[in-house]
Amino acid sequence: MQGKESFIGPEEIIRKKSEYLIPCVYHFYKEPMQVVRGEGQYLFDHQDKRYLDFYGGVSVLNAGHCHPEIVDKICEQVKTLQHTTTIYLTQPIVDLAERLAQITPENLKKSFFCASGSEANEGALLLAQIYTGKHEFLSLYNGLHGRTKLTMSITGLKFWRTDSNPVGGISFVPDAYCYRCNFNLKYPDCNIECAKQIEKIIETSTSGEIAAFIAEPIQGNGGIITPPDEYFKVVREILDKYGILFITDEVQTGFGRTGKMFAIEHSGVKPDIMTFAKSISNGTPVGGFITSDKIAASYTRPGASTFGGNPVTSVSALARSEEQRQFHLIENAKKMGAHLKEKLKELQDKHILIGDVRGKGLMLGAELVNQGKEPAVQETDIILEYMKDKGVLIGKTGANRNVLAFQPSLIITEDNIDELVDVLDGALCYVEKHKE
Ligand SMILES: Cc1ncc(COP(=O)(O)O)c(C=O)c1O
Repeated sequence: MQGKESFIGPEEIIRKKSEYLIPCVYHFYKEPMQVVRGEGQYLFDHQDKRYLDFYGGVSVLNAGHCHPEIVDKICEQVKTLQHTTTIYLTQPIVDLAERLAQITPENLKKSFFCASGSEANEGALLLAQIYTGKHEFLSLYNGLHGRTKLTMSITGLKFWRTDSNPVGGISFVPDAYCYRCNFNLKYPDCNIECAKQIEKIIETSTSGEIAAFIAEPIQGNGGIITPPDEYFKVVREILDKYGILFITDEVQTGFGRTGKMFAIEHSGVKPDIMTFAKSISNGTPVGGFITSDKIAASYTRPGASTFGGNPVTSVSALARSEEQRQFHLIENAKKMGAHLKEKLKELQDKHILIGDVRGKGLMLGAELVNQGKEPAVQETDIILEYMKDKGVLIGKTGANRNVLAFQPSLIITEDNIDELVDVLDGALCYVEKHKE
């Protein structure tokens, strides 16, 4: 381990960042710490202060930081065969593809691997165009699908749409944001109007030549927007009527986070293509998409990704999967998620700042509002900073950046939740007191 004296500290990191990194690489907190070590559900800073990590590297560390068995497998592979690319035959890529075929919905079987969620979505959208011979896309308000030209264009969340000249042929459809319903309706009397609007948009705003609809089953960066379970059933019927493929973006929601292996399973709907990244390999760069035999058969022209299916990252994904199997992490996500949600709802009863609590499993959000549902943006920042100072890290998402995000490792315990809730309660009291 690196000695304490070799850490340069947050101030020097900020100085180097501003000198050598493009300014778009932003960080959380007014007074950030230098993170130097991770262990299970904890992070440690340069002064060896411990932080309970309730953001898990943004929904990545499902098995916890530096999991010993996963790390051992990675090290073993690094020392044996680190890289070749897919022009040579290696075993980890096919073992991983086989494992994915076993754990994804039964119609999905063939995978393509790359190294990030953006590339995964970019590839899935291309596949949809190749298979259907159509070129347009549908996407949700407030969705986030990546940073490349096409995936940024198909991202509905304004905060992440930097491109001043996005790709055309993309129509956005209303998200199922029940707390701020696009139609001022109330669930369940709304009859899922947001899903039904998709047909109107297909008819009035597109050429009718639509390759695919892409959606996160729970919109992570959008603010943990969680559609009613029947939403995707209504959507699927419309898509089928118009011969449009359904791509589920499981980059944030996959691999047990929501209490099921994949979040789309809550709806019972079978996607045509599923994309994945983040937690598949617990912290090494793996992305990809999986589809049916029939759709896969249309993609025959050469396609390669230098790091896709790399032996080290594939072994790391296989080890993460084994860990999940042995330690019932999905079960824990369900159980701990239910416990945390109940506790957050208790806090909602106590603090008017919490306008809504939503999400599934260990993908939960609390939307902070002032009077008249005005987004409590400054208050959100104060709460994050306060909690960090007390040794608890949480996330911040939403179109207005006013949603607290709780997406910890799936190994967390009731004691961890109690610690989080205590500190959050203190933070909310602090903000309320300073507003008086
Ligand atoms: C749902 C979703 N899709 C795609 C991406 C892009 O993934 P990456 O940052 O690995 O390119 C993200 C990143 O946060 C995401 O949350």
